Amino acid sequence: MDNQDWAREVSEKIKKKMHKVAGRNQNRIPYLTVNGCYEDMTEKDIYWWTNGFWGGIMWQMYHATGEKIYYTEAIRTEDKLEENLRAYRGMDHDSGFKWLLTAAANYRLTGSEKSRDRALIAANSLAGRFNLAGSFIRAWNDDGDGSRAGWAIIDCMMNLPLLYWAYENIHDPRFLQIARAHADMAAKTFVREDGSVNHIVAFDPATGEVLETLGGQGYGKGSSWTRGQAWALYGFVLSYIHTGKEEYLNTAKKVAHYFMANIPESGLIPVDFRQPADCIWEDGTAAAVAACGLLEIEKYVTENEKPMYRRAAMKLLRALDRDACWDDEKDYIIEKCTAAFHDEKHDFPMMYADYYFIEAIWKLCGQESFMW
Ligand code: GLY
Repeated sequence: MDNQDWAREVSEKIKKKMHKVAGRNQNRIPYLTVNGCYEDMTEKDIYWWTNGFWGGIMWQMYHATGEKIYYTEAIRTEDKLEENLRAYRGMDHDSGFKWLLTAAANYRLTGSEKSRDRALIAANSLAGRFNLAGSFIRAWNDDGDGSRAGWAIIDCMMNLPLLYWAYENIHDPRFLQIARAHADMAAKTFVREDGSVNHIVAFDPATGEVLETLGGQGYGKGSSWTRGQAWALYGFVLSYIHTGKEEYLNTAKKVAHYFMANIPESGLIPVDFRQPADCIWEDGTAAAVAACGLLEIEKYVTENEKPMYRRAAMKLLRALDRDACWDDEKDYIIEKCTAAFHDEKHDFPMMYADYYFIEAIWKLCGQESFMW
């Protein structure tokens, strides 16, 4: 089947399945599953970094189908997340994931002023994490002992669009300057010569000196955590889209070339490209995020280059579809994901893999609401 027909077929399968999944998950914020059913994060951890992705799925579904249930659930998720704006522990580098897919999306699609305010408050908090000494946005909070004050992580590249969004909305160049400063730092400090990336860089928060790089959620120091590679690949092309700065596109391509060269024959992505050869743990989130990034890069390269990015994205997406769960009695679509290499559990569904898989399929079918 050709790629377009295949994408249309998958899009129909998603619509059929999500109608049921959304129906039985009303007033909930999904993340992980128990026996195929989503657990609700509302009580468990309303500050959890993935809590915006359910809103993102709801907006993408609403945009493609116009069905009211998705609209209602997107608004409910956003209202519940409001609590994050009142708690320091709810506001870290992941504000972009939470608020671009909820409040900023809502404002873009409906013009809600309340949502615009929420997204702007979140953008101010994200900008407030910028450290002048090292030109980085601080990642996680700590217990107040400053032990993580100098940590920056590659994932943050995906949160910069909240700053670009704020700049585009209120035309205050500080947001643009901070996003660009962080992206410039990441291109220099995170991206290695071969196109692979570090997960964590630890700076001296007072002087800005780079102290060390850390393996983070990957296999170890100097390894190549695949979701981190995907965050960089997609994150740099997003910085290019918002700034037009050619270096960001080139950096996205450099990371993409490394990623593409490491895609296994099966198209299924391991947790770390440098994990031991006999380790078979996978991460479907890395594949889905990378596919989205590759489809964006494809738009900005020459005619000659386009097929290479499209082919790689299709390989990833078709492999995900082959192993996907289309049983509509189960809540998840993408089955094998891993939060961190050294966790006890591997190869389980994580809801945001479904978000990126849907986003990629929507890109192919021309029915995406651009969230970043
Ligand atoms: N941003 C955290 C993760 O990718 O697991």
